[in-house]
Amino acid sequence: MTMQIVQTAKSSILSAMPAPLRNELFVRYKEHQFLRYIREKFAGRVKPVPSGMVTPPSLIETEALMHAEDMGEKQQRSQYFGSGFAMAHTILTALEEQGADLAKLQRVLDFGCGSARVIRHFRNIEGLELFGADANPEPIAWDRANLPGINFRHNELEPPLSYDSDQFDLIYALSVFTHIPFKWQKPWIDELYRVMRPGGYLFCTVTGGNYMGQLTEEEREIVRNGGRIELDADSSNASYSTKVLKSWDVFQSLEEIRQLFSERFELLHFTDFSHLETAGQERLILRKPTHTN
Ligand SMILES: C[S@@+](CC[C@H](N)C(=O)[O-])C[C@H]1O[C@@H](n2cnc3c(N)ncnc32)[C@H](O)[C@@H]1O
Repeated sequence: MTMQIVQTAKSSILSAMPAPLRNELFVRYKEHQFLRYIREKFAGRVKPVPSGMVTPPSLIETEALMHAEDMGEKQQRSQYFGSGFAMAHTILTALEEQGADLAKLQRVLDFGCGSARVIRHFRNIEGLELFGADANPEPIAWDRANLPGINFRHNELEPPLSYDSDQFDLIYALSVFTHIPFKWQKPWIDELYRVMRPGGYLFCTVTGGNYMGQLTEEEREIVRNGGRIELDADSSNASYSTKVLKSWDVFQSLEEIRQLFSERFELLHFTDFSHLETAGQERLILRKPTHTN
């Protein structure tokens, strides 16, 4: 009851604030939560680093827009940094929940990093070697010019990556497999497996809940029945970013995703947000077995 009163009081204070102040508080809060968490987990290794600039609209256009009208929201500092801090925090807590020893992480790869919304925040942890890869050369050029301390590389739409085998303790791919056409999904999973060190973790987001709203009822039915839908840049219901980037939006059943990813990796966790009205993409956490054949 007391909690409820406190929550109600908090939300009335917040809604009475001017939007810029509320947004600033939001981003500061997300930053504070992340920094507090990493100070606890990486004792003595946290040296706050400026977050850098919000990525320019020409790149946001290729990375984050379901509709052209979403630009106003997506380029807000609070949205861009707030979601980046929150996701960096979520990746670490999710790994910890699966028993990972965070202090032992050394090499981290953000696969499909775009303009580094997330990996830039891991620069606050000393001793991590950070890598970002993307098939679009434009954000990679911007990242190199604006975000020191991270090794950024461009890759082709098809494997391979230009890293040696068994390199990374953690690889994450956020909203990337939702844009990889079906014919390249397995080759990419195999490639991420190759560059992952045995015992390393893969965190991926995949098709989920409210993104299905993009499909027609008929298409949704196909996916519900275990089928697949691939929208290319010419499809009328492709996302705005997919049209700009000439990419793909892909939808498939969670069962198919489970099978694809667990062919080689050990599947540790697969969310099911389907009961939530605001369900976002689902998340998978996988591990490369320590003893590989
Ligand atoms: C929706 S954006 C997400 C960007 C970033 N992960 C984030 O969460 O802010 C998808 C990104 O995946 C990249 N991408 C798509 N296919 C890729 C591939 N085969 N290899 C590397 N990057 C890819 C796109 O260029 C784009 O930057």
